[in-house]
Amino acid sequence: MTVSNNNLLEIKNLDISFIQARGAAHALRGIDLTISSGEILALVGESGSGKTVTSMSIMGLVPTPPARVNAGSLLFKGEELIGRPHAEMRKIRGNEIAMVFQEPAKYLNPSLKIGEQITEMLILHLGMSKRQAVEKSLEFLDVVGLGKSRRVLNAYPHELSGGMKQRAMIAMAICCNPSLLLADEPTTALDVTLQLQILKLIRSLKATFSMGILFISHNLGIVREIADRVSVIYAGKIVESASNKALFENTLHPYTSALLQSIPDAKKRGHRLRAIPGSVPDAENIPQGCSFHPRCALASDRCSQEIPMTKDYGNGHSAACHMVQ
Ligand SMILES: Nc1ncnc2c1ncn2[C@@H]1O[C@H](COP(=O)(O)OP(=O)(O)OP(=O)(O)O)[C@@H](O)[C@H]1O
Ligand SMILES: [Mg+2]
Repeated sequence: MTVSNNNLLEIKNLDISFIQARGAAHALRGIDLTISSGEILALVGESGSGKTVTSMSIMGLVPTPPARVNAGSLLFKGEELIGRPHAEMRKIRGNEIAMVFQEPAKYLNPSLKIGEQITEMLILHLGMSKRQAVEKSLEFLDVVGLGKSRRVLNAYPHELSGGMKQRAMIAMAICCNPSLLLADEPTTALDVTLQLQILKLIRSLKATFSMGILFISHNLGIVREIADRVSVIYAGKIVESASNKALFENTLHPYTSALLQSIPDAKKRGHRLRAIPGSVPDAENIPQGCSFHPRCALASDRCSQEIPMTKDYGNGHSAACHMVQ
């Protein structure tokens, strides 16, 4: 396998539409993202901005049709994923690239015991014997903080609490030692204490297994806790990318600033959040020029006419805004 650089995943100019009877929904409009091994990249943006379409396209799970890849490339370990036959993608999924979801219920089979589900992965993908797979499953339950528990192994998903289900799903996702983990809002359904525990677990996975992790969230407060680098997505376009520190301390894009002002602050009870006025445009109806201009306090005439180019401001910090100097 040829690896051209350190990037585990390199998405270049990925452009995807959903073709429907009432018109095309332009879900991704030429996005660029890179993830290295041992790095957590957060993809953050409001609902409908294109986060899930991004992760599903990496997994090869965006159905074409109705989706159409207009342009772009998805290089994983230097090799193109777009256009790979389904059978090859199935092998890569679970084995090399794994995913955890907001809702463990989407991933865990309610009629199979947790142990059966994890051992099945190990037997299918890694060719282990039943006995080896059971031993290994116990090790992974331990890794995700459930202990080497035969009780959990023999439990059905409904017998576990929300936090335990989330941990069991993560154990399943990582048991074949994937090099890339996609986590789509993995903590959103959990209470604050559990959220922090799961974030800690994800950080430890990065360190222990040197995984590259795409962490999807709409909450910059959580992103600040976990990400090494952050890309902000709006209406299917990356509007700002930077290291964690640079994004929070030297915010460039007005959309990122607006998201920052809408972070709930646990310490300031009763503190009113400034919600961003308006909403993310429909992918079928994206405004001309900068797609954020109708909601932007700084917008000028130029913003409603001309799409801003992404400019590099040094040290990997880039933004696409006419008003940033
Ligand atoms: N199968 C589909 N057919 C048509 N449009 C779609 C389809 N899937 C997604 N879209 C559109 O693509 C855009 C991006 O959707 P996506 O699910 O990626 O958003 P998201 O950022 O994950 O939002 P959320 O935070 O709510 O999960 C939306 O405008 C959505 O309506
Ligand atoms: Mg989503």
